[in-house]
Amino acid sequence: MSGAARIQTPDALPAEDELDRSLRPKRLDDFVGQASVREQLAVSIEAAAARGDALDHVLLAGPPGLGKTSLAQIVAAELGVPFVQTAGPALERKGDVAAFLTALEPRAVFFVDEIHRLPRALEETFYPAMEDGQLPITVGQGAGARVVTLDLPPFTLIGATTRAGLLTTPLRDRFGIQHRLEHYEPDQLARIVRRSAGLLGIDVEPAGARAIAARSRGTPRVANRLLKRVRDYAEVRGDGTVTDAVAGHALDLLEVDHEGLDRLDRELLRAICELFGGGPVGLSTLAVAVGEEQDTVEDVYEPYLLQRGFLERTPRGRAATRRAWAHLGLEPPAETAQLFG
Ligand SMILES: Nc1ncnc2c1ncn2[C@@H]1O[C@H](COP(=O)(O)OP(=O)(O)O)[C@@H](O)[C@H]1O
Ligand SMILES: [Mg+2]
Repeated sequence: MSGAARIQTPDALPAEDELDRSLRPKRLDDFVGQASVREQLAVSIEAAAARGDALDHVLLAGPPGLGKTSLAQIVAAELGVPFVQTAGPALERKGDVAAFLTALEPRAVFFVDEIHRLPRALEETFYPAMEDGQLPITVGQGAGARVVTLDLPPFTLIGATTRAGLLTTPLRDRFGIQHRLEHYEPDQLARIVRRSAGLLGIDVEPAGARAIAARSRGTPRVANRLLKRVRDYAEVRGDGTVTDAVAGHALDLLEVDHEGLDRLDRELLRAICELFGGGPVGLSTLAVAVGEEQDTVEDVYEPYLLQRGFLERTPRGRAATRRAWAHLGLEPPAETAQLFG
């Protein structure tokens, strides 16, 4: 499989981060929050299992770190079937797809991460496979070439995407089950922090877990990363216990503020306010201004800033809200004050 080394995760981490792997919930019951998604999946899984069918194809959308890969693995575990994993950018030729599909065991889960980055030319290979379990392949070359159709075992394609909007309609329509993961509430994140602390053997007081949760930008992966960094601080500067105060000091040191914004979040907002008069400014210009990839800004940073009301998307680009100006301790120009007054 060529191209595996080029897989980019939006938050510039290896595709399978060690911390992610060790803390990943294994069953639906370990998966905190997203109650409606969990409930609906539980029903679909039970129905498919009772019929002995493969589960319908599943599309999971949402910002990075909210549990898409975890859920895909959980679905396979709950169904008791093998989990086979690849990513859109790793599939380059029809043969790559054929190699995966023809090797699947019946009812297996075939997970395609970053499915919005699947080359367009390959999408058509997926259509008959998803719909009728068929894979047309060309045998031979030139005048003697002919198409034979292979029957595939029934399987479940689970696609994950940070940008459902980039999927073509024909591909999206072939997923019978579609769920969008949302940012987590602080009390859910606190539960995740306590669960992770238990797995990592970290002594965390409930108030310490809440302090980390409150500053994790609604994202379990961020909560887990901050927990590890706070633990370091607790061991070096304290007695190893993560209390409210220890978490607070550690997070201040890490430059994660009380809204959970990190340095790049603030740089983005500051650039819009100070360099572009509050915007609107195009995303690519903004990305250059802060020295980040446009994809990273769009996938990782923007969703939370939008959700928390720091940023607005306008037809002409991104604009800082009054809340952003206030958070940075800056005075908005008069027109902006009116705009958001
Ligand atoms: N609902 C959840 N409950 C507990 N932990 C979670 C949950 N969602 C995510 N995590 C944690 O966050 C990490 C990142 O989740 P992951 O599934 O890799 O996110 P995504 O694939 O959406 O980027 C996981 O390893 C897991 O530890
Ligand atoms: Mg993932």
